[in-house]
Amino acid sequence: MMKTVKKFLTLFLLFSPLLPFAQTIPLLTRSNALVLRVDAKKRINISYFGEKLSKEAGYTQAPGMYRQNEDYGDILNSAYLPAGSVNMFEPAIAVVHGDGNTSLDLEYVSHSTSTISNDVSLTTVILKDKLYPFQVKLFYKTYFAEDVMELWSSISHTEKKPVLLNKFASASLYLKSPEFWLRNYHGDWAKEMQPEETRITHGIKTLDTKLGTRANLFQPPLFMVSVGKPATEDEGSVLVGSVSWTGNFRVDLELDNQDNLRLTAGINNYQSAYTLKPKEEFETAKFLYTFSSRGKGVASRNLHTWARNYGMVDGHGSRMTLLNNWEATYFDFNETKLAELLKDTKKLGVDLFLLDDGWFANKYPRNDDHAGLGDWEENKKKLPNGISYLVKEATANDVKFGIWIEPEMVNPKSELYEKHPEWVIRQPGREEHYFRNQLVLDLTNPRVQDFVFGVVDDLLTKNPDMAYIKWDCNAVIYNAQSAFLTNQSHLYVDYVRGLYKVLERIRTKYPTIPLMLCSGGGGRVDYGALQYFTEYWPSDNTDPLERIYMQWEYSYFFPAIASSNHVTEWGKQSLKYRIDVAMMGKMGFDIVIGKLPAKELMFSQQAVRVYDSVKNVIWHGEQYRLSDPWSNPVASVQYVDSTLSTSVVFNYLVNNRYGQGSAYPVRLKGLDANADYRLREVNLFPGTKSPVDSSLTYSGDFLMKVGFNPVVRSGRNSVVLVVEKVK
Ligand code: DGJ
Repeated sequence: MMKTVKKFLTLFLLFSPLLPFAQTIPLLTRSNALVLRVDAKKRINISYFGEKLSKEAGYTQAPGMYRQNEDYGDILNSAYLPAGSVNMFEPAIAVVHGDGNTSLDLEYVSHSTSTISNDVSLTTVILKDKLYPFQVKLFYKTYFAEDVMELWSSISHTEKKPVLLNKFASASLYLKSPEFWLRNYHGDWAKEMQPEETRITHGIKTLDTKLGTRANLFQPPLFMVSVGKPATEDEGSVLVGSVSWTGNFRVDLELDNQDNLRLTAGINNYQSAYTLKPKEEFETAKFLYTFSSRGKGVASRNLHTWARNYGMVDGHGSRMTLLNNWEATYFDFNETKLAELLKDTKKLGVDLFLLDDGWFANKYPRNDDHAGLGDWEENKKKLPNGISYLVKEATANDVKFGIWIEPEMVNPKSELYEKHPEWVIRQPGREEHYFRNQLVLDLTNPRVQDFVFGVVDDLLTKNPDMAYIKWDCNAVIYNAQSAFLTNQSHLYVDYVRGLYKVLERIRTKYPTIPLMLCSGGGGRVDYGALQYFTEYWPSDNTDPLERIYMQWEYSYFFPAIASSNHVTEWGKQSLKYRIDVAMMGKMGFDIVIGKLPAKELMFSQQAVRVYDSVKNVIWHGEQYRLSDPWSNPVASVQYVDSTLSTSVVFNYLVNNRYGQGSAYPVRLKGLDANADYRLREVNLFPGTKSPVDSSLTYSGDFLMKVGFNPVVRSGRNSVVLVVEKVK
């Protein structure tokens, strides 16, 4: 009997890919489904994308409900659209085979699903070309509870000669709806994350970067596609996505002749045709997305939870508040000045002192941004006793010590450049062109990788008490040419791979050290890099009014715990306003503490204590955007802890016209409707009184349906409320 069952099972498994019901591959998360289907020609298609259906049969029935224009090649909804056979649209993959042939027609071979944990599963689909020994594996990783998917592919072959990959996307998605709306971002230095929302029209809209060393400056790899109509915070269907790649990315949004949207995302193929040797594997970047049919708010919280669980280092941990000396001293400091700043760090009450740029290089001292990058020895004039002395001094002052580095870069005026011109990305024979007076080191070269790893390793080996590193990146790649590579069109891809190799080594040796991912201008943030970092620098623009908008937009993609927000002298707002805005993430200071008037110092010290009391709600709670700065005079953002017992609500006046303020109550979200809450205003500047009566109680139901008026107006332009459940 057992034998017959076994035999039947083996036969079933063997032939299951041919059985009609086995041709549908539903990839399911808590609320959503991405359904793949193998058609009669053995092509793998996307047959359903959207909210999960209650019966699986629906996924087979759904395609029959559409009466759209002709699909002449029967290929438009391909899960990985190849170029060179019957496809007339933007491909996911385009190749030139070893014999010069440019065709590709990928056939389904098999698929399998492995369970990684209760939450995570990985489905692998194997595709092969009909004529050539050329294979693509499609990977679909589902994060069930978070409603997040990661899609990527791996390409290989056993042809006699190398194959040229002209395009190598992570994946394609295919969405059906009468309308699509795209929210994408543009920017520049100090102007990051400017949103634009437009209806997607026929043809292709491409989001991409060609910067080489990072994704963001002019355009981050972050976007939203609303299906049907523009999604709001709590309504509408929306895909929120990104490419996890710390360099050139590309996202194509193509509305085709059937009026369907093909979304093809991955590494940018710009100047990057990749020669793939037989048996070599080309693994693409990951395309990450979540989908919500209940608005952008849910989608963002999905991504926050995912990031804290899987997408960053120490997402559930703690972060250190800090005092940074960049804007306080720039390059002008010495041991005595720093000793004072260490005392100020303690006086302010923050956890760590962060020594910024300017501490290194001797032959060409780093006294401004024209020299010294690459020469990572302490500058003897400024720091005669070295970094280790400062680390000890920090300990003596009962604070921690962190340091700034920019190890991927070199100034032409440096010993490193003199010794190793072959380590620098540049076109010999062409005039060098600089971005912030510097050039990029060639991370495709393993010796350069060793050098960059060595910068970090050396600092941490010599100073085991070093507690934090700010990793900066201030240049893009101009004149892309590597003295190491024979194949120059591999440079952009192999640069990022080289960077990941270094970061991997750092994390293997130093798994817990906090690392800030920084880039002056266009925070270098993306989920490819964030897997090695604890936080990112959203922008050099720390004007709090600007930050309200920027942090608002970043917060659709990244959790507050990852956002390094520093209080600086940027902007015209009061110190209170600046501190309140910085609190909506991971707070730091970059001001001259010694120059603060007594009341401002007292306020700052008290604000650090307030922050310490609510930071866990901000870092680990759910974030709700209540009132958006783009269309209201008052912007409000709320964080609620997982037990729904404490919430923090930040409210800011963002419109200074006469009489503007909180005319209406701000409706809170995410509270326990049946519980009672008390509200108290915190971060009051010494000498001011709050109109908020903290003895009154309100039900969660009331606060969510009617709301609460924080009384924001001119003269009270920043109000922070702590909402606590009455026990
Ligand atoms: C750019 C960063 O964004 C700043 O915070 C500072 O670290 C400078 N670089 C230092 O050169």
